[in-house]
Amino acid sequence: MAKIIFENEQSFSEDDLELSLLEISLKHDIPHMHVCGGNARCSTCRVMVCEGQENLLPMNEAEQKLAEKKGLESNIRLACQARTKGDVCVRRLVLDHQDADLAMHEMQATTGREQPVVILFSDIRGFTAFSERHLSYDIIHILNRYFQEMGEVVLANHGYIDKYMGDGLMALFGVDEQDSDKMCMHAVTAALQMETALKRVNTYLKQNFDEQFEIGVGVHVGEVVLGQIGHRDNAHFTAIGDAVNMASRVEGETKSIDSSVLVSQCMYAHIHEQVEIGQTVKTQLKGKSGDYLLYEVLGLKSE
Ligand code: FES
Repeated sequence: MAKIIFENEQSFSEDDLELSLLEISLKHDIPHMHVCGGNARCSTCRVMVCEGQENLLPMNEAEQKLAEKKGLESNIRLACQARTKGDVCVRRLVLDHQDADLAMHEMQATTGREQPVVILFSDIRGFTAFSERHLSYDIIHILNRYFQEMGEVVLANHGYIDKYMGDGLMALFGVDEQDSDKMCMHAVTAALQMETALKRVNTYLKQNFDEQFEIGVGVHVGEVVLGQIGHRDNAHFTAIGDAVNMASRVEGETKSIDSSVLVSQCMYAHIHEQVEIGQTVKTQLKGKSGDYLLYEVLGLKSE
């Protein structure tokens, strides 16, 4: 049992010391920011240790890596990684979404860098027709509900939500990862889990609107340029390059072969031992010359 004090907020006794400080604060309904989903990538969960630093367990590798990257002092800890074995008093440093935006901006500020990443595009089929049948208020609500589900899947698989485009979503995997096989598996796992998440959205849609969504997800791995793009007051960390266009084209093909998850040949080379494949298609892609092999992914082999 340890006494945990969140300075100026709450204090409580906690007996489950397996939990991270973030899990403890969320358990007690403290609105603790955790933009990356507790994956040691954003630092929005950071806290200043006011007392009891000796009771905190040493930083794990992930926390150490981010602390070094951001130059955090030793009394600043990532709540999503830090665990305690005794009494501790901490103060949250990122208190609202405005603070979180600033923290993310510092984290991602860069002049641009070239690196391989996995790009995932998803899209709702027939969304234009759907939106013509419903009130604007309902559409915003439904889209937010849908993106909440899909976004959680991306974050849970170490992805970064790059942008929303109407009913489309673009996510990146491997921004902070060097291992190509790993980033490809994270992305394809997310793509498959999106289908499961869609079932939850569809249950809600069926009950309330007598509608069902179908989605297509296209995934490709390749070299991109990553960086902040946009007006200095509203710049956004994103990826550009041919690989991004390619991923979008792969997603576009899901409809023509009536498949949910399609991956490019480069992706397939990284994941083929771990996934169940359905159709393989040789096709031309809009805006590209030559034929491309695309693979339908049905599931993970271990499932
Ligand atoms: S929640 Fe992102 S680093 Fe802790």
